[in-house]
Amino acid sequence: MSNVRLPDVTAESDTPRRVLLAPSLLASDFTRLGDELQAIAGADWAHVDVMDGQFVPNISFGLPILAAARAASPLFMDVHLMIDRPERYLKDFADAGADGLTVHVESTPHIHRAVQQIRELGKKAGVTLNPGTPLETLRPLLPDVDLVLIMSVNPGFGGQKFIPHSLDRIRTVRRWLDELGSAAELQVDGGVGPTNARAVVNAGASNLVAGSAVFGPGGAQAGLERLREALK
Ligand code: DX5
Ligand code: ZN
Repeated sequence: MSNVRLPDVTAESDTPRRVLLAPSLLASDFTRLGDELQAIAGADWAHVDVMDGQFVPNISFGLPILAAARAASPLFMDVHLMIDRPERYLKDFADAGADGLTVHVESTPHIHRAVQQIRELGKKAGVTLNPGTPLETLRPLLPDVDLVLIMSVNPGFGGQKFIPHSLDRIRTVRRWLDELGSAAELQVDGGVGPTNARAVVNAGASNLVAGSAVFGPGGAQAGLERLREALK
């Protein structure tokens, strides 16, 4: 028997990618928000999931919680707006401490204007779409955004299972961004944890959101460490 190692078929890219980790505060203990932010001080971003009970079938939190998180932590506040017609509130979220604002293509007929408004506010502009929405809907926006978020669950709730087909969507957007020479972040959100983080990055992601995988039993610091280990 020879001992020859087979090539690693999961390695889709031979250039190592730097990966930013963005724990989602949705899964944190809100009674201890300041401590939870301390526990993720070693992360790159804090992901802030805002839900309005209209665009998604759940209500999470809004401006005052973002302002509290902002006051308690120097982390980049990455705000994911799951709200109808987000352009109505972009300035309010910018004023409350957002560093980046991500809007859904399905949430407004004027998605490009929303992206322009975010940039005019001096914030990083992100665009995203639900798992059932064709990727082509975000293609015209790619030259003008700082971040593309591929949702790997249907937005509205934490703790759901990663939809496997999302890997193909990540690969396609990675190719489009590379063709454009874009340095935009390619973020993935939903069901990401130590068991699939490597595959998600190999497919082309540069930025991982994780809620339940970070703020689990044992504390967020350990959760973050498990995620980093899985990416080594
Ligand atoms: C879903 C949110 C996600 C969610 C991720 O609507 O956008 O950010 O909190 O949670 P996990 O990592 O538990 O799937
Ligand atoms: Zn999110």
